[in-house]
Amino acid sequence: MAEFKTLQWMESENVLRLLDQRRLPQRESYLECGRLAEVADAIRTLAVRGAPAIGVAAAYGMVVGVRERVDLGMEPDLSTLAGIRDTLAATRPTAVNLFWALERMFIVGKGCLDRGSRGEALIRELLAEARRIEAEDEAAHRRLGINGAELVPDGARILTHCNAGALACAAYGTALGVIRAAWEAGKKISVLADETRPLLQGSRLTCWELLREEIPVTLICDNMAAHCMAGGMVDLVIVGADRIAANGDTANKIGTYGVALAAAAHNLPFYIAAPTSTIDYSLSDGAAIPIEERDPDEVRRGFGQLTAPAAVPVYNPAFDVTPARLITAIITETGVFPPDRLPGRGSA
Ligand code: MRU
Repeated sequence: MAEFKTLQWMESENVLRLLDQRRLPQRESYLECGRLAEVADAIRTLAVRGAPAIGVAAAYGMVVGVRERVDLGMEPDLSTLAGIRDTLAATRPTAVNLFWALERMFIVGKGCLDRGSRGEALIRELLAEARRIEAEDEAAHRRLGINGAELVPDGARILTHCNAGALACAAYGTALGVIRAAWEAGKKISVLADETRPLLQGSRLTCWELLREEIPVTLICDNMAAHCMAGGMVDLVIVGADRIAANGDTANKIGTYGVALAAAAHNLPFYIAAPTSTIDYSLSDGAAIPIEERDPDEVRRGFGQLTAPAAVPVYNPAFDVTPARLITAIITETGVFPPDRLPGRGSA
């Protein structure tokens, strides 16, 4: 089966090409973003989603934003760069990779401006940094996968929530990266994929990815996970992360906390797989992680069909925080760590 690219910089057109995840699994179609507003909209509306992929898309978004202004005859200065960064930063609040990547891009841009590089020279340097972020992302996930695969016994039945696969990253995946690496190592594993209400990243995206690679996967509704654990159908849980606080508390897709509680009740290992760029050392614990609240209609009329009275009030947090005490270990590209002993960023 042909490889898919979650995101791709198209050199000749100067556009960011995104696999439009809103349309999967019905349609494999691509969006071409040549304007800052288009990149921001793609992130906000989940055409591109998943913490690492959001970071990489935003990095290219900085390039798109500067290119747009240069093409309009403007000469971008530091306040232009800050404005582009802030537009992208305002798209989604929880995944720290977004802010991490934007900061890297801003620092490179500022360095260029300080040295007097403008116009095409500025764009070239920003593009090189975005490419580095993308390449590092893929390399980190491949290393993380190898580290995590050691924890997966042959024959393991793995439950996962949301989508932490190649669709959520530049390539390969975090939780699905571990699953892929275990499969590539010849382990006869199988996956139970939570559907992941309300936007169904588990059923639409995780199942799509795993079926393409012929990794055995069975779809369950979110409210079946504890039942499956009680029935002895799960050996371990692996999920991704959007932001990990310094004490190991971890924000991930809404429903993850419930899965962690159920895993603890059944004495099952519960692993987080994430690159070190997802660790936010500035936050001492998970209470300070900003939790995105999304449009109530995602719950009331999922995918266009009214499934609740149109006037019913809805609470729709997109993420929850799993306390460190429920996490067996955090799998990163630099090793596997207990949540209370996290590594430094990028440390070996
Ligand atoms: O709202 P989403 O689809 O962006 O949420 C994604 C998740 O919660 C993923 O589990 C997380 O970003 C890890 S991706 C490797």
